[in-house]
Amino acid sequence: MNASRLLAFVGATLFAGSVFAAEPAMDRGEYLFRAAGCGGCHTDEKNKGPALAGGAAIKTPRGTFYAPNITPDPTYGVGRWSEADFFRATREGLNPDGAHYYPSFPYASYTRLTDDDLRALWNYLRRQAPVTQASRPHELPWYVRSRSLLSTWKALYFTPGAWQPRPDKDETWNRGAYLAEAVGHCGECHTPRDSLGGPRRGLHFAGTREGPDDSVVPNITPDKKTGIGRWRKSEIIEYLDSGMTPEGDFAGDVMAEVIDRSTSRLTPPDREAIAVYLLSLPPVEHAVRKEKKKPAKGKDAFGF
Ligand code: HEC
Ligand code: HEC
Repeated sequence: MNASRLLAFVGATLFAGSVFAAEPAMDRGEYLFRAAGCGGCHTDEKNKGPALAGGAAIKTPRGTFYAPNITPDPTYGVGRWSEADFFRATREGLNPDGAHYYPSFPYASYTRLTDDDLRALWNYLRRQAPVTQASRPHELPWYVRSRSLLSTWKALYFTPGAWQPRPDKDETWNRGAYLAEAVGHCGECHTPRDSLGGPRRGLHFAGTREGPDDSVVPNITPDKKTGIGRWRKSEIIEYLDSGMTPEGDFAGDVMAEVIDRSTSRLTPPDREAIAVYLLSLPPVEHAVRKEKKKPAKGKDAFGF
């Protein structure tokens, strides 16, 4: 665990149930912005880049992507966009010229956001400081450079449209499903992809060895052997809050960032809703875990 992670953990523990539960005044757009992790890709935190002016490299098996500048700068950002342009980008994966976005921009999940939530996000984005900085071009193998090919990908894997609540499920389940499938886009990492980069059928949330930044992404369906079927609801909530697993380990890799940036900042009822939803998924047996790494010499299990 690195220092900021530790601080976040200590902070989350000290203030659990007070600050986050009572946080009254956070703007809805800001809340969604955090829950959806927009800053994680669009801000180059590693190099202390300006907020939302373009992100660090996102390495995938299909090339290296750089999330662009989405500040309100009129030249380099989205300053000239209308709300309708923003809706089209997130709901349909199309830029203002009608070209397709790569699915490394998780619009396949964000398309499920409600109109109200998209509007709140757009209003939040428009209030951020404009930054005059050009976006970095992606580094892609020649065979995926053409955006027109993405129409095939979309035809195979993409169904646009806002999340439709299920009337046979209660409010908590529906909230959890919305947070996990749309806003938190958990499946973008936790669902394995086929050779064309589409989610593999029957393995929803079942984990992959080919996660972002070479991470191994565990199975989070409630399968007892290969998933989180042995975790109690309270243990999932704890993990999404502080990063601590039932064994007393801490989340690493990109999940530590997801927890810092997003799930630890949700309200307790929202974290609970996600846990309820995960435990309701059909269990899928799918082993992805590698052998547990031993902590490096001179460090204890907590990484001090
Ligand atoms: C997993 C990383 C990732 C996350 C999370 C993410 N984005 Fe992006 N975003 C990208 C990438 C990569 C692109 C560029 C896609 C392309 O070039 O086809 C992009 C493109 C965009 C664009 C189009 C900008 C332009 O100039 O055409 C907008 C707007 C945008 N993202 C907004 C958001 C918002 C709002 C959120 C949070 C709700 C978000 N993004 C979360 C990776 C991400
Ligand atoms: C950017 C990729 C990414 C996203 C998005 C993501 N995860 Fe993860 N998740 C990971 C990785 C990688 C791990 C493994 C962390 C480790 O090895 O310590 C993980 C671990 C977990 C675990 C622990 C499982 C175990 O067996 O240890 C849970 C639970 C979990 N994630 C839930 C979620 C939920 C819920 C969401 C959506 C709100 C989510 N994740 C979004 C990458 C991601």
